[in-house]
This record gives sequence, C-alpha cells and structure tokens, in this order.
Amino acid sequence: MKSASGAQKKRAEALRKELNTHNHQYHVLDDPKISDAQYDALFRELQELEEKYPALKSADSPTQRVGAPPLQNFATVAHSVPMLSLANAFSEEDMQAWEKRIADRIDLSESDTLEFAAEPKLDGLAVSLRYEDGVFVQGATRGDGSQGEDITLNLRTLSALPLTLQVSGGKSAGLPKELIVRGEVFMEKAAFTALNNAQRKSGNKEFANPRNAAAGSLRLLDSSITASRQLSLYVYALGDVSQGFKVPATQQSMLEWLAKIGFPVCSETKVCANLSACFDYYNDIQSRRSALPYEIDGVVFKVNERSRQQLLGQVSRAPRWAIAYKFPAEESVTHLIEVEFQVGRTGALTPVARLEPVSVGGVTVSNATLHNLDEITRKDIRVNDKVIIRRAGDVIPEVVRVVLDDRKQAGTPRRRKIKLPETCPVCGSPVEHSAEEAVARCTAGRGCPAQHKEYVKHFASRRAMDIDGLGDKLVEQLMDAGLVKRVDDLFALRIEEIAELPRMGVKSATNLVASIEASKSTTFARFIFALGIREVGETSAENLAGAFRTVEQLEAADVAALEAINDIGPIVANNIIAYFADSNNVDTMRALLSAGVHWVEPDATSTTQSQSLDGTSYVLTGTLSSMTRDEAKRLLSDKGARVVSSVSAKTTGLIAGDAPGSKLAKAENLGVPVLDEAQLQLLLKS
Ligand code: IVH
Repeated sequence: MKSASGAQKKRAEALRKELNTHNHQYHVLDDPKISDAQYDALFRELQELEEKYPALKSADSPTQRVGAPPLQNFATVAHSVPMLSLANAFSEEDMQAWEKRIADRIDLSESDTLEFAAEPKLDGLAVSLRYEDGVFVQGATRGDGSQGEDITLNLRTLSALPLTLQVSGGKSAGLPKELIVRGEVFMEKAAFTALNNAQRKSGNKEFANPRNAAAGSLRLLDSSITASRQLSLYVYALGDVSQGFKVPATQQSMLEWLAKIGFPVCSETKVCANLSACFDYYNDIQSRRSALPYEIDGVVFKVNERSRQQLLGQVSRAPRWAIAYKFPAEESVTHLIEVEFQVGRTGALTPVARLEPVSVGGVTVSNATLHNLDEITRKDIRVNDKVIIRRAGDVIPEVVRVVLDDRKQAGTPRRRKIKLPETCPVCGSPVEHSAEEAVARCTAGRGCPAQHKEYVKHFASRRAMDIDGLGDKLVEQLMDAGLVKRVDDLFALRIEEIAELPRMGVKSATNLVASIEASKSTTFARFIFALGIREVGETSAENLAGAFRTVEQLEAADVAALEAINDIGPIVANNIIAYFADSNNVDTMRALLSAGVHWVEPDATSTTQSQSLDGTSYVLTGTLSSMTRDEAKRLLSDKGARVVSSVSAKTTGLIAGDAPGSKLAKAENLGVPVLDEAQLQLLLKS
C-alpha cells in the first residue's frame, strides 16, 4: 500500500481541523460560516484522501461520523466516577425541604446565600464521554450507574458531539489530559416526527416518544443507522478530570467553559439567587415547555458552588446538591363516557372520546382524539372503559390505552364496543367505508353542513385566502347566524351585521371586512388551494397554477394533461375532474371571481422583474432562519418559480436550511445545485 506524503498528511490534518470547526459552528453554535456545498467539498476531499491512504484515518476524523460496521454486542465500560441519579421534587414544599436539608449541612453564615444553577431536565438518555488530550475516545451509557455500555461508534455519528476539543490560542494548558463529560442525548420533537413518518412509510415500528426514539437510535449495534437519525446532545456535568486541572468554581462557569471548548450546552441554563428565583424559572420554563424544540420533564436545580457540592456529597446514589423538580405528569386516568364522530372537511369521520374531565399535566381535558376505527380496534377501546390519557405539548390529547384490569372489577359499568355509524351524525347521509382507507366518510360532500363549515374554515385559512382575523370560531358564528351560506357570501358581509354577533363590535367588524377585502387580491395558486379540491395541497396547487395559468385552462384540462404535471397522479387528476364536473363547485368558483377575487396573471408580468424566476423549479428542505418555509415558498412563487416537494433531475435547485432532510443527498446524487439561505436571499433579490 502506498503511504501518504508529508504534504498529504498535513492536508488531511488541516481538513479535519477545518471540518470540525465548521461542524461546531453549524451544529453547536448555530452559526455556519460556509455553505453546505463548501462543507461537502472539503468533506469529500478528506474522504478521498483517507480512502487512498487508510493510515491517515483517525478517530476524530469527521468522516467517521457516518457509522462503522455493525457490532456483535456492546462492550462494558466501568464508570470510575459513578453516574448518579437525581432525587425528585414535586412541589414548592419539597423544594423548601431540600433547601433546608442543604442549609443544615453547610452551616450558612447569616450573610451567606445559597445560589442555584437551573437547567431544563432533558428527556433523553444520559451518556458519559471520555476525552484524552482533547480527542473523543470513548462514550458510554449510564447503565446501572457503575457500569454502562460502550456506544462510542454510535456517539461518534452525532453531529453535535465534538470529536476534538478546542483550545484557545492552541494552548493545551486549557485542557486536562483526561476529561469525562456527562450529558444527555435526545431527539428534538421535529426530528422525532420526521423519523416516525419515515418509519410509518417504510412499514417499520413507530416510536412512542422522542425519548424512546433517542434510546432506540443510540443503542443500535449498527452505527450507520444511528448516523441516519437526528440525535442532539447537551452536556451538563463532569466525571473524572485529570488531577491538578483547575475546574471552574461554579456549575454555571463550568458550563461556560464546556461550551468554550466545543461542547453543546443548553441555552436555557440560568443562575437563581434564591428559591423564589428557582420557582420563577420553573414556572417560566413550564409555560414555554410546548414551544421548546425538545421535550423536558422538569427542571434540575444544582447548588451552584462546586466546593459546596463536594461538601454536601451524596446519599444513596443521588447527590444531595441537586434535585429534579418534575412537571406534573402528562398522563392521567379517567372514564370514557361516550364516543362521538366528528365530520371533517373531506367528510372523514374522526372518533372523539368524551371524557370525565381530568387534569393532565395541569390542563383540564374532557375530549381526546381516537384517530380512526383501526386505532380503536387495535387498542380495544370501549365505551365506559377506564382509559389513560396523554397530552404532549400542544398535541391534541389522545387515549394511550385502556386500563384492562378495571374491566374485571365488579360493579364497574358494562362496556360497549364502538361501532361506526351507518349515517352521518350531522346530516344523516350514508357513510362510506371503503376497504382501502382507514377512514370512513360522509357521502354528502359540501351538502353536509359539517363538511361545509370545515371547508369555509379552510378557505379563510392562512395558507389559502389568508383572511386575517377570520378564525375557526368566527366562521362558526357567521355560519350559525346564517350570514354565510356559501364561501362567496363572505365577500358580501356588511359591518353592521357582523358587529351584532356575540363578542364582536363595530371596530372588529370593520377590521374583518377590511381583511376580507384585502384577501381578494391573491395568487392563482392560493385560489386553487382555497377551492379545497380533495388532495390538492399547496404544492399541487402551485404546480397547477404554473402549468395552467388561467381558471379556464384548468377547468378544461383532461386527465392526461393533469397527470403530465409534476406531483399530480391519477387519483388527484380524477379529483380535479370530479370537482369541475359538479356544477355547484363551478357556480361557487364563478361567484368568487365575480365578487372580485383576482390575481395578477403571470403572462401580464412576465416581462417585468418580478417574474425573473419564470420556468424554474425549486425544492425547500430544512429550517430557514430569516423566514418560514411558507414565506420562502410564497416569495419564490411570486417571482415565477415553481416550488415543488420532491427533487428530480429537472429541479433547478434545492434550497437547504438548517438540518436539511434526505432531499439534500438526493439533490447531490442527481447533481442538482444546492443553495444556502444567503444564496436564496440573492435569488429573491435578483
Ligand atoms: S445532572 C450528578 N442535569 O436526569 C447529577 N441530569 O434523573 C447527574 N438529566 O440520569 C445528573 N437533564 O439523564 C443532570 N440538566 C440535567 C439533566 C439531567 C436530564 C437526566 C440524566 C440523569 C437523570 C436523573
């Protein structure tokens, strides 16, 4: 085998260093300094060098993040400093008792106060990470606290995990020879949803929650699968540190130091001057819990001074100086009183459980979704059952499972199996349940008042006609009062009649009429989407608008013409044909146009600057920082570009934000140019 020249060795080293720095900028600091394409070019260069000269490969090489060949089993790792668990608190009284226990032990003088470091209690998996001379050499699970499993290869695939630590000015004095850092590996909510969607599509088992998904992804013998999962990491504690190394004096300054040398540290950490500040922190983070990108199940409070931590020591495998103040449980048990069926916009019947009101994680819940009949059968849910309800963040509460033991209990009410109604509970039309679909539907179409109401809500919604201030509740009020019988009635509403509705006044009515007026000026794509044709989502609507340009052309299109469009298959094509075959739909559409709904015909502006992206097609992936994906879509369409959902060889470009999905790899394979956010901005300005 050829051996690498000195220059090649140096180049590989430089590439590794550069890639690790950019990786840290991107995944830990959220502040990328180069484009993904530039990163990929550097990455490929290193990969090629290492393939040519395997001796150049090193454990800290970013190329090692892609996963290694599967293992037979995990080796055992002994934790020389045990990985402790935490005592729990469930109330302010528990917290006060904890503070008192501490104060009794450390003999606080009068002027002395006890400061606490507060951190979210991340709901993931504790890991221990060992670094030698600043290089990641071993990672382990907590196991029983004294012995864990060696999951080094899996941990190496985590983008947020620094493979080499950073020392300012290259002084190794900034790092201990041996350093063990502890933290939590977890999966963000968005990554969890995406993973479960993919699992469902590929017929694989879905994960119950992000914690299980993180655990399942980390404890895999095949690290290449771990590499494909989006796992995150925050560190929060130290294990062994080489003797003689001066560790910062407080928990907070230690976290700052860890962040400085390259570790991801949660940005929500804070020092609380006393217990009352701890309660404020707890309440604040609890109120923001559902908006956080990751799941937390409480707050960890730690005595801030490390010298005091040492003084306090531990009791039965938990430190005296730390406590987990848990949020109230998000699962509760209650009685299922009845099951009703709600009718959605497309007629789909969704079973809803009416429950004896119960507090779940501090919120009173009296309804929960049962998704569909298959779900009911799978979970064997019956009326009068005792059921476990879960509420996670702002997700609709759901029935997790039945308390089966309760059925055996003497004296409990008789259980009744849940049957699909034969007729629509709202309009009485026959219900259809085809073999191919999990859902059953009311067959009345918009003739069903429930379907019609949902349709008007859709029409007014942000992504359709975007009528500001016209939310679901107000649509219900307008329709119940008989002011709106068909969508086009919205455009004839008068201030006086709206003002008379409960909770409305002249001012809010005037605003509403103004935003209804403003919504008349729209885009063709939004208009098509607003029509609510079955299975025509925003992307299909945009593609249709790009292909047909006028309502007349769209109306006249046959199946073949429709199927020729990107994203439109035979089912959607037939739905479109069926939509225009119904004279009620055509009448409504015409009425909307004569009410003044309009858009700028692309032809009329094709010579102006605003249509500079005519004929191009883009795909969006990942999160953008300066705008939402919807906004990006709208801005691109406004310039004449088509925004499609999947990458093909014909795609003009892929716009990749933060944490791009699999589309990125596909684009690269097909040689489709990849644009970062800065390039998108330039494109929009062009
Ligand atoms: S400190 C010596 N800090 O909670 C103290 N733990 O119930 C060791 N956890 O095993 C833990 N977030 O997996 C600490 N900010 C945080 C944490 C945290 C989550 C987990 C950790 C630990 C468990 C104890």
